[in-house]
Amino acid sequence: METVIADAAYEGRFRLAKRYIEEGDVVAFHTETVYGLGANAFSDEAVLKIFALKGRPADNPLIVHVHREYDIKPLIDGEPPYAAALRRAYLPGPLTMVYPSTGKVSKYVSCGLNTLAIRVPSSPTAQEFLREVDLPVAAPSANLSKHVSPVTARHVYDDFNGKIPLILDGGACGGGIESTVLDCTGEVPQILREGLVTREMIASVAGDCKLYRAQTGEKPKSPGMAYKHYSPRCRTAYFTEREGAIRAYDEEKNAGGTPCILCEHGKVPFLGGRETLDLGGTGEEMAQRLYALLRKGERSATLLIGIEPEERGGCMAGVLNRMRRAFGAEHGTEES
Ligand code: TXA
Ligand code: MG
Repeated sequence: METVIADAAYEGRFRLAKRYIEEGDVVAFHTETVYGLGANAFSDEAVLKIFALKGRPADNPLIVHVHREYDIKPLIDGEPPYAAALRRAYLPGPLTMVYPSTGKVSKYVSCGLNTLAIRVPSSPTAQEFLREVDLPVAAPSANLSKHVSPVTARHVYDDFNGKIPLILDGGACGGGIESTVLDCTGEVPQILREGLVTREMIASVAGDCKLYRAQTGEKPKSPGMAYKHYSPRCRTAYFTEREGAIRAYDEEKNAGGTPCILCEHGKVPFLGGRETLDLGGTGEEMAQRLYALLRKGERSATLLIGIEPEERGGCMAGVLNRMRRAFGAEHGTEES
């Protein structure tokens, strides 16, 4: 199968995408967070194709994507009072809301959970695509399972060339990390995955907001968070201080390797001219650059060394979460 990358200059690309979706095919599309790998959420067969293409574990549910005018009422079985206010404040945008489900979409979307995650992306490419198909589109990030999420059409192509017919290219993703996933089934909303819409932003509208942390041994509410994720395909090491990073770098270099250090902008001048990837200085910059730099690093480095950026509030919680997981640091280990 030929994989076409269709940007804005490609005449009729949304009609073509609609045809593929209606035929049960999978189409990749730009969003403001990361690229998605979409299929008709009403079709068992189409949804199962996504799992097969990604090599995704069968118990990790998918988010459905809809355009801003799409009526989600038939999909959800009631909602708490704060949900409408959150939609008004932050949608379209990088916030996924989890509701009680009516079970209208394929049972494979939510993997047996009685909830449904719905997202209204703000990217014009995503909006136009979703309006054209006018169906809920189930879509995980468009990367092979466990690989780094894609933030350019080229990243999607690198993982799925020959496996999907079409990539709707909307350029580089401005957000850069996946949406905030928010459980809206309880009295107080609860963040299941941190992202660009922060806990403070949600609390300011909903009055309160909890952050879910799975207890050890407990099956997490957002099953995706149980898996090692976002990993570059090279050896990695992770440090909270630059001294350790420099030591690991020099050891790798002396052994004939090509190490590289991924760190925030302010640390670059203190690394003595060693090879670096610069994450930038603000939370927003780091979110935007992280995945592209992880993919760049895995192509050239034999050892990619991360130095933990400082917590700065705002979306840094989301950035730190992704960075630690990419480097396997949530267990305090060096990942290979
Ligand atoms: O920004 C994003 O959210 C991107 C773009 C493409 O929209 N999508 C994305 O999808 O990141 P994915 O499949 O890579 O991550 C979805 C996350 C997983 O952690 C999954 O477990 C969780 O959302 N999730 C999906 N449905 C859920 C549900 N009903 N209840 C709890 N968590 C759910
Ligand atoms: Mg993903």
